[in-house]
Amino acid sequence: MAEMSGDHTGTEQARASSRIQASIVAKRQGAQLPAADIRGVVDDYVNGRVPDHQMAAWLATIACRGLDLAELTELTDAYVSGGERLHLGRLGRVVLDKHSTGGVGDKVSLVVAPIVAACGVAVVKMSGRGLGHAGGTIDKLEAIPGIRLDLGPDDIYALVERVGMTIVSQSPALAPGDGATYALRDVTGTVESIPLIAASIVSKKVAVGASGLVLDVKTGAGALIPDRSEAGLLAETMLRLARQFGLTCGAVLSDMSQPLGRAVGNALEIKETLSFLRGEQVPGLWEACSVLARLLLQSADPALCDADADARIAKAVAGGAAHERFLEWASAQGADRRVLERPELLPGAKHVVPIIADRAGWVSDVAPRAVGMASVHVGAGRLAHRAPLDHGSGVWVNSHVGSRVEAGQTLAELHYNGGDHDLAVDLLTRAFTISDEPVQAPQMIHQIYPSHGPVD
Ligand code: URA
Repeated sequence: MAEMSGDHTGTEQARASSRIQASIVAKRQGAQLPAADIRGVVDDYVNGRVPDHQMAAWLATIACRGLDLAELTELTDAYVSGGERLHLGRLGRVVLDKHSTGGVGDKVSLVVAPIVAACGVAVVKMSGRGLGHAGGTIDKLEAIPGIRLDLGPDDIYALVERVGMTIVSQSPALAPGDGATYALRDVTGTVESIPLIAASIVSKKVAVGASGLVLDVKTGAGALIPDRSEAGLLAETMLRLARQFGLTCGAVLSDMSQPLGRAVGNALEIKETLSFLRGEQVPGLWEACSVLARLLLQSADPALCDADADARIAKAVAGGAAHERFLEWASAQGADRRVLERPELLPGAKHVVPIIADRAGWVSDVAPRAVGMASVHVGAGRLAHRAPLDHGSGVWVNSHVGSRVEAGQTLAELHYNGGDHDLAVDLLTRAFTISDEPVQAPQMIHQIYPSHGPVD
């Protein structure tokens, strides 16, 4: 949260205060905000001339009344302004970025980046930590002994040249307006707003400066925006916004109505990523990852048809190149390669409790938020800001929606070393619904927006 600075004169603060009040009233009455006001308000907040309560009211008014594309473009640009920017253009090659709106068991970035890099297209990914029930890529990677994720621009350029990919933690200096307002949104109920999410995500992508971007917008009970048509609106808003900044941008609307794959939790997800890259089948993961990898390859080469892209992706996995690329990249960032070659050496759990089906039938629901929170309660995620994680804990989901199960069969396992495992077992037990009738597995991909196609 931005702190009010005592360095400003009373006149500066009074001017900032009257500007933001006028802007709140104008937006409440449905006006389009002038570009200079949007920039001024964000700059005043970042530089401590406006207090949290006024900024919270401004953001809440936007969350209620919305922004048009011109306003959204100004807000995004204002977030980026005054912050660090990468200059990936100096590498003289196409460098792509991928972003997911997050979910439970979402290890797609860990899978897609090495596949695409193994196909010869560079990927730079700045990732975040877990938020609430949803895990974060940086927390997952920190389960790997030795890995360094807090890298600066020169390391990023060197990694792209050497191994064609990098995943690093988000620099707080990138898009400072987003950093300051995101922390405030988090405690004022204004995270779930389409224009505010769009400006927040796209501002960080603009600051990273990749030539192309592919967005994985999740929909379903475990997603930031559960409703499918609202999630579609978010995807379309971000596509339009990213294109305003000259980014080639594609998107996928993908399913988050149940956990993705079997592993939920940090080291468990790294283990599942490595097995998947060695060719093991993981429920839902191939459908999600292959479409995103295809869009990334086509972003780099618009002439590449679906069949050729899919063949390159399948070859990179089946031939072991994607797995090898993950190991090369992670070792280049300090990871202990011997551990990645023997994933059983990654952090684990002392205790494993099976969650047993009490009747036969078909699984009709695996509530993703309950599964995510079960893993949080045993230390795979945070209940308090900056709390340390237990990288070995989490949930292993054995049965997904549509599976036939028999009474006494293991539906899931809770892996834990500590934490509130009784609460976690209770959440997990109630996460599963079993129906007497056969149930269709949900479709994984609801919509594809090609990088070079129209928005709708
Ligand atoms: N992720 C972001 O980076 N910003 C949001 O507003 C929501 C999710």
